[in-house]
This record gives sequence, structure tokens and C-alpha cells, in this order.
Amino acid sequence: MIAKQQIEERFTTLFHTNPAHIVRSPGRINIIGEHTDYNEGFVLPTAIDKAIYVAVSKREDNLIELYAEDFQASFEVALDAIQPVEQGWPNYILGVVNQLVERRLPVGGFNLYVNGDVPLGAGLSSSAALECATGFALNVLFDLQIERMELAKIGQLAEHTFAGVNCGIMDQFASVMSKANHVIKLDCRDLSFDYKPLELGEYAILLLNTNVKHSLASSAYNDRRASCEKGVAIVKEHHPQVNSLRDVSVEMLDEFVKPVDQDMYIKCRFVVQENERLNAACNALEAGDLETLGQEMFKAHMGLSQEYEVSCDELDFLVEYVKQFPEVLGARMMGGGFGGCTINLVKTSFVDLLIERITPVYKNKFELDLTAINVVPSDGTSLM
Ligand code: GLA
Repeated sequence: MIAKQQIEERFTTLFHTNPAHIVRSPGRINIIGEHTDYNEGFVLPTAIDKAIYVAVSKREDNLIELYAEDFQASFEVALDAIQPVEQGWPNYILGVVNQLVERRLPVGGFNLYVNGDVPLGAGLSSSAALECATGFALNVLFDLQIERMELAKIGQLAEHTFAGVNCGIMDQFASVMSKANHVIKLDCRDLSFDYKPLELGEYAILLLNTNVKHSLASSAYNDRRASCEKGVAIVKEHHPQVNSLRDVSVEMLDEFVKPVDQDMYIKCRFVVQENERLNAACNALEAGDLETLGQEMFKAHMGLSQEYEVSCDELDFLVEYVKQFPEVLGARMMGGGFGGCTINLVKTSFVDLLIERITPVYKNKFELDLTAINVVPSDGTSLM
């Protein structure tokens, strides 16, 4: 949590005016259902108590002036000269502005300050949080009347066009739409959703951050997405009604994709089975059967690692290591992969001991610090 007063003071120092609005938009976790969103499948995310904060004010001219506290960096561009830039971080903001401009919405020049406590590169969707905070803030600042769901889509398109990642809708949707103490069962085919109470009794969610982010992450992500689309195209030649892996069964993959491309077959089968695991996990959560939920998480990790091949040694090690403890019901890598965090379902009374045990072993093996992050399922984007 970053104090409102601290943000106001920094904004005033930087831009010599008061912020008109301050918005917080949270990072997210996902209980299960990875790489399913862009395949019209299901996901089970929720927002966390760590957020990106954006403060804004209007300007008289048509300039956009940005300042990011994390990088101690500023950036300036004219509203009519926006394009993707080398620096990285401005793209998440500029990509959103570009969406608004393309929709011919009445956006003028503005100052924007960013701060936050979502760890960057940890797979907690700090970029989606920044996109959603920006969209929400500009929506209020220029009275654009955009609905929440639309803000999520704008964030996703910003990611596609300015960050170059063909992501699904999960991260932005979770940042904008989440409800405290609930997870969202989101059907990415039609964006229908249900809030499910996240009742974990004497268990807690613990994230373990590998503190690695492999550089191939975004290209591999786009490659996986392309494999899935090719698999769908092959099935569609025989079943014209099929539009996504959501409409595909393992039998169809066995018959049509396996003979053509074994690797593509395995990738597509993972997605179909990940949806099945999510449904089993969701039913278990509703029934209070946390053992089964945990087992599905372990199975999901095996699939992500061995079949979809988006894990890495550090993530695999963390998941394997916790299996020896009966107090840990489930664990898996979370998010796009190739680094970031594992999500663990751990007996609350065992959390500290687990951190104590696993941290030095991890350090010894990888010469990296492990960061434990406790998260609380929280509300989506809001004005401060
Ligand atoms: C990233 C993307 C999401 C989703 C996950 C994998 O977080 O931004 O859209 O595809 O990876 O589940």
C-alpha cells in the first residue's frame, strides 16, 4: 500500500500542480487455468493487495508527460505523435492512450505519475495493472464513460499493439473486475463470469518469487499462441464449427493433429486438459475439498512444465521441493511462465517454517534470493 499523501506530494513536486485523481489498480494471482484465456477457455484469477497507482491532471497543451517512480524516469510526447518506444515502461501507458485516440474519444494533454508495490517481472501482472490504472484514470479525467469491461479490453489491446505480447484477457480482467475474498471464474469465450468465495479455512496462498525472468518469455508466449491457432485450423478442416481449442476434444486432436505435428498436438492437448483441471479444481473449491484443489494445481504444473514447456529450472525446483511437506496441498508456476512466482496452497501455521526451509536451499542451488509474498484477494481498480 502506498499512501495517498505520498503520491500527492510527489506529483506536486514533479508537475507543479495537484493531481485531479489517483487510481489504484491491483496485480493478480490465478489459482489454476494457465494459457487457456487466449484459447477461449476458463481462468480462475483474483486481484491482490498489491497495486499500481496512477495520479493524473489535465494540461493546457497537447503534451503527455509521464514519470515512473520505479525507474526514476520521465517521458514526454505530443498526443498526436504517440508510437511504441524503446524504454519499455511508457508503452503500457501510451498503448492505452493510443486505444482511446483510435476510438476518437476526447482525450487532451495530461500529466501522469506512476508508483506501485506490485513486484515487477514476478508474473503478477504489473503491466496489466498499469494499463488498467491508466485507462481508469483517463476515463475519469476526461469523462469518457467507458465501462469496466471495456477498460480491460483496452488494456489487452495496448499490450498487443505497444508491448508486442499477444496476451489473453485474464490479467486486465482480474485487475479491473475482482472482488475481495473471491476468485473470478471467467469464461474467456464470452466473458461471462461468476465470483466464487475463496474460502481456504486453515490454508493460505503463498507466492514464492524465483526472481528470474527469462528473456525468451514474450517470444515463446506468442509462439505457443500460434501453435494453438494452427492446431485449431487443422481440426477446423474436418469440423468447420470449431473456432478455438474450447471446441476441441482430445479425441479430435488424436485424430487430426497428432499425425501432422506431434509437438503441436501436445501443446493443444495441454490446453484442453487444463480447462478440465480448472473445472475439477473449481468444483473442489466450492465443495471445500482443498486436497483435490491442490492435486489439480500439482498436475497443472506438470503439464505447464513437461507439455506446454513454459516453466524453468527454478520454478520446477520450487514445486518439487514443497511436495515433501504434507502441509502444502498444491503448488504450480503461475502466469505466462519462464520465471516469476509459484503459487502454493499452504497450511497457515506452516507458512513461516516453509519459507525458512526453502529459502536457503534455493539460494544454495541457484545463487538467487527467493522472495516470499503473502497475498490477500482484493477488490479491482478504484479511485483513491
Ligand atoms: C500472461 C498473459 C495472460 C495469460 C497468462 C497465462 O499472464 O498476460 O493473458 O495468457 O500469461 O495464463
